[in-house]
This record gives sequence, structure tokens and C-alpha cells, in this order.
Amino acid sequence: MTTVGFIGSGNIGSTVARLAVEAGHRVVLSNSRGPETLADTVAELGPRAFAATSGEAAAAGDIVVVSVPVKAFPELSALPLAGKTVIDTGNYGPERDGPIPELDSASLTSSELLRRSLPDAVVVKAFNNIFFKHLRSLARPAGAPDRSYLPIAGDSAPAKAAVTAFLESLGYGVVDAGSLAGSWRQATGTPVWGTPYGPYSDEKGEPADENAIRAALATATR
Ligand SMILES: NC(=O)c1ccc[n+]([C@@H]2O[C@H](COP(=O)([O-])OP(=O)(O)OC[C@H]3O[C@@H](n4cnc5c(N)ncnc54)[C@H](OP(=O)(O)O)[C@@H]3O)[C@@H](O)[C@H]2O)c1
Repeated sequence: MTTVGFIGSGNIGSTVARLAVEAGHRVVLSNSRGPETLADTVAELGPRAFAATSGEAAAAGDIVVVSVPVKAFPELSALPLAGKTVIDTGNYGPERDGPIPELDSASLTSSELLRRSLPDAVVVKAFNNIFFKHLRSLARPAGAPDRSYLPIAGDSAPAKAAVTAFLESLGYGVVDAGSLAGSWRQATGTPVWGTPYGPYSDEKGEPADENAIRAALATATR
């Protein structure tokens, strides 16, 4: 059993938490407003789910999922995440996040921006390319013919191995998409972002196998 901390427990954070609880992991959820606002969510998730402050969730996690708007990354710099594997689900959108010059000029990827706020953490990008409702509905056990795949990106082989094992436990295969600097290949608007899993209007989604994810990554341009 892994303890997974969550910084941000909205659409994608709470969906990952639900899959994690179903896979037998312990989850510690947090948001910006305080643990009391997560009481209903943890009650629904059951006895392996807890609500905490962001500092407590960061400290508790063997793996920590950061699932907040990109504009909030600078607010995370004081969290106790040194040495931890941190999964970044973030997608940059200037309409929501406001302009961020390094991202607008493509001199950094959004995951590199998170690493700048958390220099002692080990960041791996994952889950950013799938609609949360599809993430919920497309999970399948290992060996299922319709198991879907997700790309991950990062610079640490041990952290990627830990994230791969975690994603596999949730019901997904993994494609290694390269480094954090190269994680633009799975960023907003790229071929692997959303499209392989079908239209948002179909909440069930469509399974996307390893070949589909590799092919989509290979056609990314910027
Ligand atoms: N929605 C999707 O299908 C999807 C899929 C893949 C990736 N993403 C990306 O994942 C990220 C999260 O998306 P979402 O849809 O889950 O957003 P969301 O539903 O708006 O949830 C955001 C969460 O972040 C929390 N938060 C904001 N600032 C914080 C801070 N400074 N410290 C701690 N927690 C903070 C919010 O807390 P409060 O509720 O207290 O404000 C909320 O729990 C975004 O970058 C998004 O682009 C989304």
C-alpha cells in the first residue's frame, strides 16, 4: 500500500484519489480552503481517505499528486516535498492562469515551472492529457484487452518507475514520453492531449492502446 498525498483535490485530484483508494492505497487530500471542506469527499472515499492541510498531505505522501491550476505553482514552494516523487497533472491555459512569460515563449514546460517552485522534489508529469471523466471510466485491470495507456515525462528513472507502478495499479499502462523539457509533447493541444480517449461529450471515453499513444506523441510539433 502506498500513501498518496494530494495538493489539490478538484476534478482530476479527486478522480486519481478515487482510483487509488479502489486500488488499495491510502490517500491524504488537501486543497486551498482547508481539510474541513473535504469532509464529504473523504467520507465518500471511505476509510483509506483522509483530509489534511497541504503541508500534512505533502509530508504524508510516498507519492504526492500536485493537481492545482498552474498559476498556483509559486504558492507551493514551502511544502515539505524534498526528495519526494511529485506527479504534476498541470495544463497551462493563459485564459485561466493568466500570462506566464516562460510558458508563452516555450522557454520552459509547465512541469519545469513546477520544478522551479519545488527544486528538491522529483517531478514526473502524468494524467495531464486525459479528461477526468475518461480517467475514471477507462481504468482496466492489467491484461485487459482494452486497457488504456497514459504518457509520463520526467528526468529521474527511479521516480518514473514509481509512477509507472502507481499508474499500473490504478488501471493504466504507461508510455515513457521522455524528459520534463520534452513534456511539451503531451501538453495542451498536442495530439496525445484528450483526443485519443474520445470526445468529452462521451463520458465513457474510448480506450487508447500503447500504439495509439506512441503514435500521437510521435506526431507532436510546436
Ligand atoms: N479537469 C480535467 O479533466 C483535467 C485533466 C487533466 C489535467 N488537468 C489539470 O490539472 C490541474 C487541476 O485541474 P482540475 O480540473 O482538477 O481543477 P479544479 O477542479 O479547479 O481543482 C483545483 C484544486 O486545486 C486546489 N488549489 C488551488 N490552489 C491551491 C493551492 N495554492 N494550494 C492547494 N490547493 C490549491 C483547489 O482548492 P480549492 O477547491 O480549495 O480552491 C482545488 O482542490 C489543472 O492544471 C488542469 O489543467 C485537468
